[in-house]
Amino acid sequence: MSMQNIWAPRTPVQNADAAASFSVEVSPVAGSMGAYVTGLDVTTIDDTGIAELHRLLHTYKAVMLRQQRPNLSFGDYASFGARLGELAVDPFVEPPIAEHPEIMGLIREADDTSYNFGGDWHSDGTYLERPGGLTVLWGKDVPPFGGDTLFANMELAWETLSPAFKQMLDGRRCLHAATGLGQKAPITRKGDYASVNFGQELDRIAHFHPIKRTHPETGQRALFVNQAYSVQIEGCTEDESAGILQFLFDWAQSPAMTARLVWEPNTVMIWDNRATTHYAIADYGGFRREMYRLAITGEVPE
Ligand code: SIN
Repeated sequence: MSMQNIWAPRTPVQNADAAASFSVEVSPVAGSMGAYVTGLDVTTIDDTGIAELHRLLHTYKAVMLRQQRPNLSFGDYASFGARLGELAVDPFVEPPIAEHPEIMGLIREADDTSYNFGGDWHSDGTYLERPGGLTVLWGKDVPPFGGDTLFANMELAWETLSPAFKQMLDGRRCLHAATGLGQKAPITRKGDYASVNFGQELDRIAHFHPIKRTHPETGQRALFVNQAYSVQIEGCTEDESAGILQFLFDWAQSPAMTARLVWEPNTVMIWDNRATTHYAIADYGGFRREMYRLAITGEVPE
């Protein structure tokens, strides 16, 4: 299989617009995706800067904006997020900042051994009718090492499948369910086909989505399944589906598809859930990690 052109445009760049009010430096993280960016301050970013950020996200899928102000406030942070789209509020999570219900806190104390939020390959909220679009994460207190976020480029994962396999998956849907909430999707005995009649409450936590997804802004195609929430391919038996999904998870999570983005103090990261999956690594026992997350509502996948 020929792959030589897939990585080509991802070289270090300055911002394309020479007349812009900022000067951006971009360092790619890996051949697959990801970039560290300096020169975009989330408290002063103007419309040209937001457009530049979208351009960077289309290319790199996840970008870490370095050198943010150490005194970044929750208000500034939420205002920045609101410039990227409609902020979602999670009705099931107690907000750490009462005035900003849209900000979710992901805080692990140094001695915490409980569930690691995001510690499974996933794209945000794919069990929803409108899964996550962009997600923003501010590392307010990050460990000196460890606690990195892993990503997989799902556009690359789709592109590098064989034509025959793509043909089989194209036009087919997969059921996504919020199994992470302790719910099992109410489907199929062994051998049944996935055609599910959800009760009302399940409409909230399980939805079918196309396996090949088209990005609404770039038109790029992505593989849209993930290990945390994708439970069964429509029209396949449970056994068939399990085998195909496991292959797709393994393919997308193979090293050449992935990038490991390393946190530093004063960093705000943005990623595009339409084109990626991610995994929060819990390897920082003994250190505190204090993150604040904003979710931008996405669209119904097509
Ligand atoms: C998440 O999955 O939203 C959290 C990612 C992280 O904490 O690195």
